[in-house]
Amino acid sequence: MSAFHHATVLSVKHWTDTLFSFTATRDAGFRFQNGQFVMIGLEVEGKPLLRAYSMASANHEPELEFFSIKVPNGPLTSRLQKIKEGDTILVGRKAVGTLINDNLLPGKRLLLLSTGTGLAPFASLIKDPEIYDKYEHVVLVHGCRQVSELAYGERLVETLQKDELFGELMQDKLIYYPTVTREPFRNRGRITDLITSERLFNDIGLKPLNIEEDRVMMCGSPHMLEDLKNLFESRGFTEGSTSTPGHFVIEKAFVER
Ligand code: A2P
Repeated sequence: MSAFHHATVLSVKHWTDTLFSFTATRDAGFRFQNGQFVMIGLEVEGKPLLRAYSMASANHEPELEFFSIKVPNGPLTSRLQKIKEGDTILVGRKAVGTLINDNLLPGKRLLLLSTGTGLAPFASLIKDPEIYDKYEHVVLVHGCRQVSELAYGERLVETLQKDELFGELMQDKLIYYPTVTREPFRNRGRITDLITSERLFNDIGLKPLNIEEDRVMMCGSPHMLEDLKNLFESRGFTEGSTSTPGHFVIEKAFVER
């Protein structure tokens, strides 16, 4: 059996010059946990050209969804950004990843910290009814340079809040905090600074960071992850894994070089 299956593109949406999302058919045998990623790509000159992508769709949804950057001259994304409804993409058969709730110790508040397309795994996780059972609050933070880059996340949260089933489940539980660093916006600043200054917690009206209650998942650029990891470790938080659950887990956003 091939390591990939062929999926048909169902829809494509371009959010900005540098960001797009698309949906594709899901193979009946493809199973994943919300927050995981898989290799996807295109066949180029008879060979698979693949990169890791987090599922932005949840595992109860019939279709797959992905959120992607368009990297100038990127071998895959320069081609992938041209896909249209009806095109074929390759999707790996095995999903993996560390942004799994079982890798975290029990807690009361789940902080989902993302920059750029690092939002994708959290797009999946915030559609998971289980996290609303396990946590009193789920705080989704999305940091971008420009306001326009927030659009995918804004639309997602809005749609969920209006959803008949999820709207009620998430009410008062999901707190969405978009922040922008390079132009005016209601929330401004890097996630690291917003945590250190406690501005994030003041703005959302909840108590400051505390190791007894807070569990953290983070996904973004290598620098952002390194700084956040240092910040949390300096406060005694430990990184979790499948064998040893901890206070935080990390996944880098898979930016094509
Ligand atoms: P900034 O504009 O101050 O660099 P990028 O597109 O470079 O991945 O950045 C996405 C967002 O992540 C931007 O808002 C950027 O802020 C922020 N960012 C970049 N590096 C870090 C870091 N080391 N810690 C926290 N936020 C960061």
